[in-house]
Amino acid sequence: MCGIVGYIGNREACPILIGGLRRLEYRGYDSAGIALLNHEGNLNVYKEIGKVANLEAHLADKDASGVIGIAHTRWATHGVPSVRNAHPHLSQSGRLALVHNGIIENYAPIKQHLSEQGYTFQSDTDTEVLVQLIEFCQQRDNLPLHEAVRRALNEVIGAYAIAVVDRQEPDMLVVARQSSPLVIGVGEDNSEFFVASDATPIIEYTNNMVYLNDGEVTCLRIGQEMQIHTLQNEHVDAQVQFVDMSIGSIEKGGFDHFMIKEIYEQPQSMRECMRGRLLASRHEVVLSAVNLHRAKFLQAKRIIIVSCGTSWHAGLIGKQLIESWCRIPVTVEYASEFRYSDAVVGPDDVVIAVSQSGETADTLAALQLARERGAFLMGIVNAVGSSIARTTDTGIYTHVGPEIGVASTKAFTGQVLVFAMFALALGREKGVIDTQTYEHVIDELSRIPDKMETVLRQNDYIADLSKRFTYAHNFIYLGRGYNYPVALEGALKLKEISYIHAEGYPAAEMKHGPIALIDGEMPVVCIATHHQLYEKILSNIQEVKSRGGRVFAVVTEGDESVCKLADYCIQVPETLSPLAPLLAVVPLQLLAYHVAVQKGLNVDRPRNLAKSVTVE
Ligand code: M6R
Repeated sequence: MCGIVGYIGNREACPILIGGLRRLEYRGYDSAGIALLNHEGNLNVYKEIGKVANLEAHLADKDASGVIGIAHTRWATHGVPSVRNAHPHLSQSGRLALVHNGIIENYAPIKQHLSEQGYTFQSDTDTEVLVQLIEFCQQRDNLPLHEAVRRALNEVIGAYAIAVVDRQEPDMLVVARQSSPLVIGVGEDNSEFFVASDATPIIEYTNNMVYLNDGEVTCLRIGQEMQIHTLQNEHVDAQVQFVDMSIGSIEKGGFDHFMIKEIYEQPQSMRECMRGRLLASRHEVVLSAVNLHRAKFLQAKRIIIVSCGTSWHAGLIGKQLIESWCRIPVTVEYASEFRYSDAVVGPDDVVIAVSQSGETADTLAALQLARERGAFLMGIVNAVGSSIARTTDTGIYTHVGPEIGVASTKAFTGQVLVFAMFALALGREKGVIDTQTYEHVIDELSRIPDKMETVLRQNDYIADLSKRFTYAHNFIYLGRGYNYPVALEGALKLKEISYIHAEGYPAAEMKHGPIALIDGEMPVVCIATHHQLYEKILSNIQEVKSRGGRVFAVVTEGDESVCKLADYCIQVPETLSPLAPLLAVVPLQLLAYHVAVQKGLNVDRPRNLAKSVTVE
């Protein structure tokens, strides 16, 4: 999705903004642009289609100076990717430049109204309508920039994070948000401010950040406290937070891609996620979310999990864990469907939103619906300080560190691990899970990071095997029980980054239709680790083999039966069935990664995809 970077201070803004855009490249985009303003009021805008590197090349022979600036990577919504539609957009007089992430839903009537007032438009975007509207308010009522922005935003319906500069007020940068993320980094003594869609472009300059809330407009001036007002013009005190993130955690650290770095980080991210929560020596799981809201959770008649994509797959595993260990009924909903459904939700329900970014528009809207109907809201989120983390009544951070690769990997295992700890803690509070199971699972969870390391040692073998699959146009992934969501996740990973069509099924469903697809050309990935349904999936593999399918199986170490049948076998260490996804998903992440690398594709930034889907 679109990325925003802004700067106001005494340094040259251009290198800061370009560096920031590079840090936001992972979000996905099709064009990039920058506007630079100096204290004399010279405002210059540069835009290019394609990568940030193109914009940088375009700037090479320009005098790109200015101490105030805004920059943007665009992910097309209104109008094709083109220089004309790229941001920043200028107002009619050329006085204002604006960048925007989000969608202005009522842009058409506003455009119509402005056209009747003599405004003309150079682009197809909703964003240009907004900058013209701000100028219209400014000129009509003779307003300073920040006040004109506030007035204009009162007429707007939709989602936005914006940054605006005005060449007639070359000492300020105005930013605002509604349903799209925006963070402000605060330099020492307010000597400079950094603005971005997330903390990654800012962290090399400061750890002190202010996360804007919905409906807040902020005026930034060098050497002055930031001025935050609501759309209703009420003053809001800035809440500066220390964000504990290192530069190393957002760089590749010797790996070819972020995705493979993040796959390899999983043993460590599992340890981070468990730190202070899973107390193995005391055989205890301690989660403040559960302790602080014990009554809410104990009274819950039902849990509804809302999420999208990979986070939805984690939710499917969460459902099984919670139902087994807490005996509370759980439903798992696509947030995008739930938000528009007439869902029966009420005060007896706990709604759990699962999200890596914490900014997914559909998940936020699903929470909004649940909030209106009185449910108690919990987040399982990775990005600290994100909108979902702040919207929910309580939450459990996954703490797996920044995930930059568009294909989610360590976030998924973090989410599953959080669900396991949550179900253990709540099952214990309810007195539902027996002590032996509780302690056994805790022991086993503490061994998961080492076992993941064993799986990762097979990377070279999987890389080699992947060469045999680059020809394929279709894959089927099969799993049962806890491994069914792993099949879905493996298929999604392959689709996203290798552009090979892949479907995940519960293995027994195959004979109800998909079996017709199987022939000698069809790779079938079977997750067949040891559990109660092992014999059943063995039969499913036999059915695939008798129709000539090529089987790539993920099995438990020491397996003989499946390995005799399968064409290729990857062994993962023995673990408890409910924890099997944590190990079984890793070879599937590696397989998808290596197939994409073999095909020469852009693994970290696959076509058409965005890391953080902040529009619906
Ligand atoms: O940030 P979220 O977890 O809310 O994102 C949800 C999905 O957009 C995300 O999981 C997406 O499916 C990933 N690209 C999967 O790899």
